[in-house]
Amino acid sequence: MNADESSLRSPGSAGRVIVAIDGPAGAGKSTIARRLARRFGLLNLETGAMYRAFALKALRAGIALDAIADLAKLADETHIRLEASGDENRVLLDGEDVTALIRDQSVTDAASRVSVFPAIRAWMVRLQQEMGAAGGVVMEGRDIGTVVFPRAEVKIFLDAAPEVRGMRRFDQLGPRPALQPDDVIRDLRARDERDRNRADSPLKAAPDAVLLDSTDMTLEEVVKAAEEIVSARLAELAASHETRIDRA
Ligand code: DC
Repeated sequence: MNADESSLRSPGSAGRVIVAIDGPAGAGKSTIARRLARRFGLLNLETGAMYRAFALKALRAGIALDAIADLAKLADETHIRLEASGDENRVLLDGEDVTALIRDQSVTDAASRVSVFPAIRAWMVRLQQEMGAAGGVVMEGRDIGTVVFPRAEVKIFLDAAPEVRGMRRFDQLGPRPALQPDDVIRDLRARDERDRNRADSPLKAAPDAVLLDSTDMTLEEVVKAAEEIVSARLAELAASHETRIDRA
């Protein structure tokens, strides 16, 4: 852990718990994860950024996004790190800060394509498990509560109607977007389709996840609901801990 990471954990924080946030693109996972991390003194780890960084490397290397043998070889030669920077993540690809580059639409699409391959997923999952092993993290992605940390203390599955998620994404594109809202919604549906239907760890809610549908909610309402879910679970954990101590 580096100094940035430890400074994100405040006294009286949620300690070593793991909060898993999963859901489709544009559901608001990143914002919610960031706010939860701040509120509960946890380290925020955004796993989508890791798939994006690898996709960027594949694009740069000119590797076809369905050439699994070449992609697996590339993965063997790749170092990806997430570093805490404030309550955001800096993404390092072989030591290069690619944080700004991985938000490009071409990388977004490529990340969804390379993430279907089991060899790539197994590598990413291993890295993510190492990063979260000590606990005290909010980890956000598609398979955190199902595959990466199936025993996470708190699991939230964040969802919203595709049109609403698409419009949120469109609004983030800035004042002169190159795309129309319909294009953004179409891309998002295509990504949803791939993420939900891939054979290896498809996007789905863990059976014990709390579902939070933000279609008709404001951001602040979603943050409040997510904070309440975490607080309630922490209280439950504290109570069961006390019960165990009483019985000892
Ligand atoms: O969350 P995001 O949009 O930055 O993720 C980019 C892509 O990475 C997404 O289309 C699916 C993939 N991904 C994944 O398969 N598993 C994760 N835990 C996180 C992201």
